[in-house]
Amino acid sequence: MPKIFTSQTFSPEERESRKDFIDKHTPYIFCDGIPQKGVPLFVRVRVGSEHAHIDDFNHYISTITLFDADHMLAKVELAACIVSADEHRGNAEVAFSIVPNKDVYHFNAQCYCTKHGLWQSEDVEVRVNEKN
Ligand SMILES: [Fe+2]
Repeated sequence: MPKIFTSQTFSPEERESRKDFIDKHTPYIFCDGIPQKGVPLFVRVRVGSEHAHIDDFNHYISTITLFDADHMLAKVELAACIVSADEHRGNAEVAFSIVPNKDVYHFNAQCYCTKHGLWQSEDVEVRVNEKN
């Protein structure tokens, strides 16, 4: 099993001194709208919050995977150089359309950097309302 990096992999001192390195490899999860059972919900995963990752042919974010707890929901494979322009830096971002069918999800995501390996997001608990 490959090593999986999270922000908790690093000591508090490393988290501070390597803040940009950690941020640009970390997947962040966002849900658009109010989750309702049976209604499509966009779950977005963006790699990097304040810092953009390099995006060239030797070094880029190649996959983004969305999980509910330990159950894989979807995985997207990305080509190099699709999230950047001349500066060769960008934030890989994908939106997964999920139709919620239960009360609670525990979303988490992973991304793979071709040079720095597998990175994991924080867990995001999402409560789902009954359909109006
Ligand atoms: Fe990297």
